[in-house]
Amino acid sequence: MPITILGIESSCDDTAAAIIRDGIILSNLITNQDIHRAYGGVVPELASRAHQANIVPVIDQALERAGIGLEDVDAIAFTKGPGLLGSLLVGVSFAKGLSVARNIPLIEVNHLQAHVLAHFIREKEREKAMPEFPFLCLLVSGGHTQMIIVRDHLDMEVIGMTTDDAAGEAFDKCAKVMGLPYPGGPVIDRMAVRGDKNRFRFSKPSMPGLDFSFSGLKTSFLYFLREKIRENPDFVSENSDDLAASLQHTIVSILTDKVVEAVASTGITRVALAGGVSANSGLRGRLQEEASARGWQLFIPDFVYTTDNAAMIAITGYYKYIRSDFTGLDVVPAARYGL
Ligand code: KG4
Ligand code: ZN
Repeated sequence: MPITILGIESSCDDTAAAIIRDGIILSNLITNQDIHRAYGGVVPELASRAHQANIVPVIDQALERAGIGLEDVDAIAFTKGPGLLGSLLVGVSFAKGLSVARNIPLIEVNHLQAHVLAHFIREKEREKAMPEFPFLCLLVSGGHTQMIIVRDHLDMEVIGMTTDDAAGEAFDKCAKVMGLPYPGGPVIDRMAVRGDKNRFRFSKPSMPGLDFSFSGLKTSFLYFLREKIRENPDFVSENSDDLAASLQHTIVSILTDKVVEAVASTGITRVALAGGVSANSGLRGRLQEEASARGWQLFIPDFVYTTDNAAMIAITGYYKYIRSDFTGLDVVPAARYGL
């Protein structure tokens, strides 16, 4: 009997639903909430209201595109956390309601674990190499920056993490200082392609072991710009591409240096990237160079599976389903929820 999982993701500002059958993706839908753009960041109250408006049509369409009905779904996987409490509540409550209505099991999913397991999403038309265990995963998103040893689908150990801002936050906050729209990461990425990455130098933190820090970079970037703007009010607009390229180069170097250290200290040469920042072309390119120079095997997810999506929730649900790892109706969302 095939195993069909409906995945629901609502941890931040994307309402998403996906259907996975036996590990193969049948549909993957996302509605982005443009409403936050005007505020330069996600407004939690607006996010949960938008999830409420979006969740039924998104799930409906996911089922329709997969060519199945609710009666064909074997279990509902949903994001328990981490994330915004009000946003998570919408997905958790909806999943519970469906589970009761259809009398099918619920599966809680850790959003961070799901980002890592995005590497195991298969597409019908396309064979893709998947990392063998154990592998290292650099998880870089808007809320998290972690170095993880992945020993099995559901067995992961965090060996390094940020002590302050996440890598995505560093992109977004510096972009905001430059007057760029939210989220700034993809905007910086596009501008960086045209800029000179060696034009400006920003200091890198000296963090012990495999931990990261990005708040110092954000502050030094802010002070640097303030000083330059005092001399020339048009400094940012006249140098925006070089600023973007130099900033991106600094963030990419901080991340890459830690991957090199993690490989050296663990002896694991299979390296995977996950999370929204792994969409960054500079990071992808730099790690590809390091991987071929150092003989690592590098795994980078397809763009659609780097940023938040429900396919990663559904694939995690699939691995939990085959282990009969189900969740009771008393489950509550967890804003903070470690791996
Ligand atoms: O994984 P994700 O979609 O959501 C979280 O779980 O946080 O990651 C969102 C983050 C944002 O900070 C966004 O600016 C960043 O990923 N991001 C990028 C790129 N695309 C998304 N950062 C740099 N370059 C990109 N191309
Ligand atoms: Zn995420």
